[in-house]
Amino acid sequence: MKKFLALIMACAMVLSLAACGSSSSSSSSSTEESEAAETTTVASEEEAEETIAASESAEDEDEDSDSESDGDLIVVGFAQVGHESDWRTASTQSCQEVFTEENGYDLIFIDCDQDSAAQLEAVRSFIEQDVDYIIIDPIVSTGWDTVLTECEDAGIPVIVIDRTIDDSTNYAAWVGSDFTAEGLAAGEWLNAYAEAMGIEELNILVIEGTTGSSAQLGRTEGFNEIAEKYGWTILDSQDGDFTESGGQEVMESFCKSYEGQFNVVICQNDNEAFGAMTAMDNAGVTYGVNGDVILISFDACTAGLEEVQAGNINADFECNPLAAPFVEEVIQQLEAGETPEQEVYMEEHWYTYDDTVSTFEVNGETQEVTVVTDEIVDAQY
Ligand code: AHR
Repeated sequence: MKKFLALIMACAMVLSLAACGSSSSSSSSSTEESEAAETTTVASEEEAEETIAASESAEDEDEDSDSESDGDLIVVGFAQVGHESDWRTASTQSCQEVFTEENGYDLIFIDCDQDSAAQLEAVRSFIEQDVDYIIIDPIVSTGWDTVLTECEDAGIPVIVIDRTIDDSTNYAAWVGSDFTAEGLAAGEWLNAYAEAMGIEELNILVIEGTTGSSAQLGRTEGFNEIAEKYGWTILDSQDGDFTESGGQEVMESFCKSYEGQFNVVICQNDNEAFGAMTAMDNAGVTYGVNGDVILISFDACTAGLEEVQAGNINADFECNPLAAPFVEEVIQQLEAGETPEQEVYMEEHWYTYDDTVSTFEVNGETQEVTVVTDEIVDAQY
């Protein structure tokens, strides 16, 4: 019965997301309803109606096979932020590799396309489907209290991953990154690098991530603390929405407005940095280890590390997207009636082109720097 309800809800979700231009899909391939959802990337209401038709014909079969196919699978709904970056792709893949039928799970995956309203709707659809667990990677850090209370009332434990929620503690556990620590590290590394290179004045442009996301808030807070400490000038700071096109657009406008005035660009993720590089190339601005502009990024996905190795990005501060195994551990603990750790921080590294700066300090703690090698690039996500 849970399967049939899931099917109906998937279709309802498909229709409503079609209306607001979002998409949904399921990574599970074992059941009729999840197959329907899996093949549905909603681009139009017509496609959504086709899904409904397919679901109606599957309905009878579904009821017949329900008892065998449902088995003891743990049904997990995952409301993912979107598909805006390489980091996000790695995060989604991590979940899809862990929450497989083979491992005992039925994963219902919804790509919320960076739309907060669609994400709330996704969570509510999971409640109506009566899933066993809900995973949320919150697009923004506020606006969660009501829906998390609804999850609690329905008796469905929520696990938050990656970004944090600031206006509720109504979830079982959080697994993710310390974004403020990433921002602090980027700032202190920049200070050590500028000293080593004899650069006395830093005039900085920042391309931020999605406004209101804890990744943007934390990295901005951490970096600004260091900028204030050393009296650096932040010329401007704009939202690039964590996308390559956003990074390019913001950098194009920076190149016009601050021509010849800046020597540092901070991009709050790799994809923004790729866009910024294109804009600087087009404007004839040189960057990286041999350029006029120090370029700093966050994430350190494979493509980002390749740019570090090539000397185009000076330093890349890792944000580790492989949270799914830790989330699974939380679910297994909850299944066993145990209380999981409330907060699990991902291990992260700071990557550079060379060892101009091999260590630096953040609040009295020594930070190691890792010089990017072929092996590191090959092993990265
Ligand atoms: O929340 C993690 C951030 O979101 C990553 O830095 C970025 O790439 C993603 O979009």
